[in-house]
Amino acid sequence: MAIKNLQDLFVHTLKDIYFAEKQIVQALPKMAEKASDGELKKLFETHLEETRGHVDRLEAVFGLVNERPEGERCPAIEGIIEEAEELMGEIQDADTRDTAMTAAAQAVEHYEMARYGTLVAWAELLGHKDAARRLSETLEEEKAADAKLTKAGESKLNKQAA
Ligand SMILES: [Fe+2]
Repeated sequence: MAIKNLQDLFVHTLKDIYFAEKQIVQALPKMAEKASDGELKKLFETHLEETRGHVDRLEAVFGLVNERPEGERCPAIEGIIEEAEELMGEIQDADTRDTAMTAAAQAVEHYEMARYGTLVAWAELLGHKDAARRLSETLEEEKAADAKLTKAGESKLNKQAA
């Protein structure tokens, strides 16, 4: 699709994050399975449910702006997930692996926060008020997930690994 204006760029970025969310839905169960700390496992499982909600919410946003839900390949998220999977397979020590997965999950959250932050701003500029509101709901959930990962890392996982 040729990007000629901000509306096109907005739709392109929606497709990018839609693709990314679906990749994350596939990656999180593997991360939950590999997590040895119970709290981290639970965090990944809870965020999997939230992420499924993000996919549904994006489908609603596509509808609000009269577009068909469609993904567009996002090499950035593929790279972040690929790196996480490599580390998960490589690290033998369970505590070190947990900390590596926490850090990888935070890289995913930060990518999503960047994308959703931009999408909210553009939706507002373009006058898509309802879309902006729905997108900011997801943005808040990503921020909360990131904060929980920070807390788990700082309070326990990093020290166990150290
Ligand atoms: Fe998400």
